[in-house]
Parts: sequence; C-alpha cells; structure tokens
Amino acid sequence: MTNETALTPIRWGILATGKIAHAFAADLALVPGAELVAVGSRRLESAQAFAEQYGAAHAYGSYEELAADPDVDVIYIATPHSLHLENARLCFEAGKHVLCEKPLTLSIADSEQMVALAQEHGLFLMEAMWTACNPAIRALQRRLAAGEFGTPRHIHAELGFVVNADPSDRMLNPDLGGGALLDMGIYPLTFAHLMLGRARSLTAQAELLVSKGTESGKEGAIDLSIAMTGAYDNGALATMTASMTSWSSGDAAIATELGRIDVTGFHTPSSIVFTPIGQKADWTDEDTVLEPVVIEPDEPVLGRGYGNEAAEVGRCLRAGLLESPLVPHEQTLTLMRQMEEIRNTTGIRYPGE
Ligand SMILES: NC(=O)c1ccc[n+]([C@@H]2O[C@H](COP(=O)([O-])OP(=O)(O)OC[C@H]3O[C@@H](n4cnc5c(N)ncnc54)[C@H](OP(=O)(O)O)[C@@H]3O)[C@@H](O)[C@H]2O)c1
Repeated sequence: MTNETALTPIRWGILATGKIAHAFAADLALVPGAELVAVGSRRLESAQAFAEQYGAAHAYGSYEELAADPDVDVIYIATPHSLHLENARLCFEAGKHVLCEKPLTLSIADSEQMVALAQEHGLFLMEAMWTACNPAIRALQRRLAAGEFGTPRHIHAELGFVVNADPSDRMLNPDLGGGALLDMGIYPLTFAHLMLGRARSLTAQAELLVSKGTESGKEGAIDLSIAMTGAYDNGALATMTASMTSWSSGDAAIATELGRIDVTGFHTPSSIVFTPIGQKADWTDEDTVLEPVVIEPDEPVLGRGYGNEAAEVGRCLRAGLLESPLVPHEQTLTLMRQMEEIRNTTGIRYPGE
C-alpha cells in the first residue's frame, strides 16, 4: 500500500441513532482517515442532534436518503437485528459498502442472503464483530496459536447483565430479535471460535420467556439466560453462558497444561494475563505459580475498540477487499449456523418462525 492510498479518506454514514451508534461515532472520530459524513434516522430531529454532536455534514430523516447520499462510501448499520437484512439491502442497492452490527440477522438463511447480496453487488460486507478486531484479542490469538502458553484444553467465557427494559425494547421484544443468545451469547461463542477454531459440536440449555412481539402481536420465545458447551479439535472443551437476568463477570479463562490465561472483560479486554503453573515433582509438593506474563495488544486500542473495527473496514476498502480476513463471511456464517442450531435445540423462536 502506498502512502497516497493509505491517506484516502473513508466517508462514513451511520444508519440509526441508538446506543451503539453513539458509541461507534465517538470512536470513529479517533480513526485516522475516517470521516463521518452523514447520519440517517427515522426521525429527522434525532439525525440532526446526532450529526451536530459528532460533526456529520448531512442529517436525514430516513434511511433511504442516507443510502442515496453520493458522498458516503460505507454505511454502519446500527438498528435492531431483525432489521439488518432490509437495511443492508437498501445500502447495497444504493451502491454502498456495509458494516453491519452483530448478529448479522436472526437466521442463517437471512445471513446467507445478506452475504449473497453483497457479492452480487460487488460490495464490502463485514459483521461488526469488534472483539475479533480488538488488538489484545488478536495478540492472544497469535501467541496461543504459536503454542506459547501450551495447548488450550478448556475455555470458560461468561457475559451477562440485568436488562431492566420495557417489553418493547429490542432486548426483550421478540419482533426485534430479543434474547440473550443473539445479543450476548454470540460473544462467548465467537471467543471460543477465535481461540479454538470451529466447534465440532455444541449443546445448550436455556431459560425461555414466551411473549408477544409488541409490533406484530405474534408470539415468540426468547432466552433470558443460556448455558452452552462446545467440543473442539484436540479435545478442547468450552463452557459459555449469557444472561439478561444476572450479573456475570464478563471474563474468560483459558486453561492449558502449562497454566491459565485470565481475560478480564473478554469481549473488549481490559487485561490478559497468563499465569504459568510449575510442574510438581509428586503429589505431596505444592504447585508452583511462576511469574505471570501480561499479554499486551499488538497495536493501540482505538477508543473502546469500535475504532479498530472501523479502521479494519478502512484498511479493507483501501485494499479493494470485499471481506475482512479478521471477520470473514465464513466465520460470521459459521457462528450464525451455530446459533440457529442452539435456537432449534432450546426452543428459541421469533414471530413468524
Ligand atoms: N458491538 C457492540 O458492542 C454492540 C452493543 C450494543 C448493541 N449492538 C448491536 O447493535 C444493534 C442496535 O443495538 P442498540 O443497543 O444500539 O439498540 P437501540 O439503542 O435500541 O437503538 C436501535 C436504533 O435502531 C433504530 N430503529 C429502527 N427501527 C427500530 C425499531 N422498530 N425499534 C427500535 N429501534 C429501531 C432506531 O434509530 P433511529 O430512531 O435513529 O432510526 C434506534 O435508536 C443490535 O443489533 C445490537 O446487537 C452491538
């Protein structure tokens, strides 16, 4: 890549003005070569307030107008999951590249359709799986794969917080793809996938809430809590939980025959430490805890880490790539397939399914 292409600005549009759109816009301001040009919302006032806060030149009261803006190269989709496919279709038909929030869609069929649409239009598509773009996670992945900390035998990862929201909120509303698995469970599944490779098999138990979608009035069954196990190559196992009714640590641990890696806040790590355990001579000896090794990010974390996913999109677009090697389509589809299998075995279903 020449210096000239490295400096080519990437002109961003943001579709929706909810919580994650704000977090993303704040980090985007820290990304070299990224420019927030436009924002689209269902309500013009909301787009205008957002544009003013983050310095976007154009504010639109519809997603259609945003997609049609000729000054925008790539659109970040930040609506509830159930809307991602129609939003992405709108962007692709207008010739825009897409960074789409996780999970890509509710079902594997819809995700395959989104990937196919991107390919038909010859446009870039990446799921906004920021964990996979985080420099600390990437350093851990690289050093674990090199065998520096031994062979991973077991991973435990948990993510949960208490959701006190109205039934119409996207976290609880079956119409909008509510539930712990798709919102939070995707992270431990992704973490295990990044560290251990594709799961050979998965099992799950879920606590379900049967309720009606507040827009459709149709019944669905969403998961309030879910516990999953996975089996991976080389005999590695994973235990993974996600919950909307309890406060989990948000941490992960990777156990190897040489010691343990503690990942604090695993979906956006604040620290990663390997604690080697010395081999004891016989059962009467105490295990010896050796000097811990702090695993540092390979490059700076931009803001809360959303900056690194935006930087990755910019890198790919400048290089003419249609998918990112950090979040390839096949990885996104593998995780979507896993979640669909888990939904089928636990009874999680959305209106109309
Ligand atoms: N990567 C992460 O760390 C992370 C964190 C949180 C969420 N997410 C993902 O980001 C997406 C959005 O989550 P969020 O927490 O930002 O949700 P949110 O606060 O509810 O915002 C969603 C936005 O989508 C737009 N929208 C369009 N149709 C809607 C409808 N029928 N109901 C509700 N909103 C509608 C609204 O924006 P306008 O009114 O402006 O059109 C709304 O503000 C989800 O897919 C979620 O999984 C990712």
